[in-house]
Amino acid sequence: MGGALLRPASANATIKERTPLMSDSLFPRLTLFITGPIYVREEVRQAGLMPEFGHRDAENAKRFGPIMTNLKLLAGLDPDDPDWDVAIYNGSGSTAMESSIRSLVAADDKVLNVSVGAFGDLYHKMAKLNGKNAVQLKFDYGQAIDLAKLDAALAEHKPQVVTFTHNETSTGVTNDVKAVCEMIRKHGAMPLVDGVSLFGGADIQLKEAGPAMYATSTQKSLGLPAGFGIGFISKEAEAKAEKVEFRGHASDIINQLGRSRKSQTLTTPNCTLANQMYVQLDYIVNQETIAKRFARHEAMRGQVHDFVDGLDGFELFAPEGHRSPTLTTVLVPEGITFAQLKQVKEAMRAEGYLYDPGYGKLNTLLEEQNRRLVFRIGHMGDITPDMVDTYLGVLKKTLETTLG
Ligand SMILES: Cc1ncc(COP(=O)(O)O)c(C=O)c1O
Repeated sequence: MGGALLRPASANATIKERTPLMSDSLFPRLTLFITGPIYVREEVRQAGLMPEFGHRDAENAKRFGPIMTNLKLLAGLDPDDPDWDVAIYNGSGSTAMESSIRSLVAADDKVLNVSVGAFGDLYHKMAKLNGKNAVQLKFDYGQAIDLAKLDAALAEHKPQVVTFTHNETSTGVTNDVKAVCEMIRKHGAMPLVDGVSLFGGADIQLKEAGPAMYATSTQKSLGLPAGFGIGFISKEAEAKAEKVEFRGHASDIINQLGRSRKSQTLTTPNCTLANQMYVQLDYIVNQETIAKRFARHEAMRGQVHDFVDGLDGFELFAPEGHRSPTLTTVLVPEGITFAQLKQVKEAMRAEGYLYDPGYGKLNTLLEEQNRRLVFRIGHMGDITPDMVDTYLGVLKKTLETTLG
């Protein structure tokens, strides 16, 4: 009798009735070639079905222990490196970035936010919105950080803290993280790095560059859904935070470190994502291997560069030596409008792909300035060279038919 009460005949029927909500016709399975969120491979999708767990229970450490070890390995660290901890924030890359601002910029500090695009601007916005004394050094879209100009800005502003973007997702430009950090250190300031769209796809040179904190997230080159910010936090950062007032609660790296040292999150984690992350990081480190993952990203960048070289009138937007291993931004021929690139997007959707017609604000600005527009190709995470090949074949035809 109890069984009948607990599991009424209608329970299964209810699930069946609800299944149409998950139908492919309502939510078509597009393969995402945008720059995050990204394509999620089947094993990772299935890992979302693993059991939920208590975040202060022994089950938690079974997931987050290996997750934290594997994150450190991916960052090129020894898992027992005494100088670095990794904190996992509920939220996203912005959450980890904002935490670095709130915890590491003191009331009487000046922070210099160096920007080569929309995400460099975001770090500046965060600093201002958190009431910090912030100044900005801005480079034109498509340019990397010019070390001589940075040198001059550091001499002029004498900041205690400097932020910059490792891999600028709006433009596809990668900055030389080691050289930029060295320049910042030369002036006695503390570098904070946004590595949201690079981590997991390339070596972030954490030890060699030595920023105080490096912020990233799950939904880009790690090949996972969004939901966690990730912060690599140095001992130097911890010591500085002790002296900064009003760090907030979840944005406080000291609070975060207290929990991360127990392989825990400070606030209730997304268990579904934690399960997926556990499975995915084990796959990356122990099955694909880190070296092969990074090599695959480089190979895919090469494929996309060859594709662009073969397209009449199209060019790579980012300068040589600063072209991202995880996404490529393509300069289109003069006269092509943003509206036309959005038509390409719809034509690609009909082919089963989500195409990226360029970062919205950037193309709007370029169009206003009568400059050539750009589109982007994300080649990060678990996309394979074969998938890139097929995608580029479809894209070539679509560009021809849509743009004429
Ligand atoms: C370079 C960079 N920084 C920061 C962010 C913001 O990250 P999130 O959306 O995870 O908060 C993004 C997102 O695309 C990004 O590409």
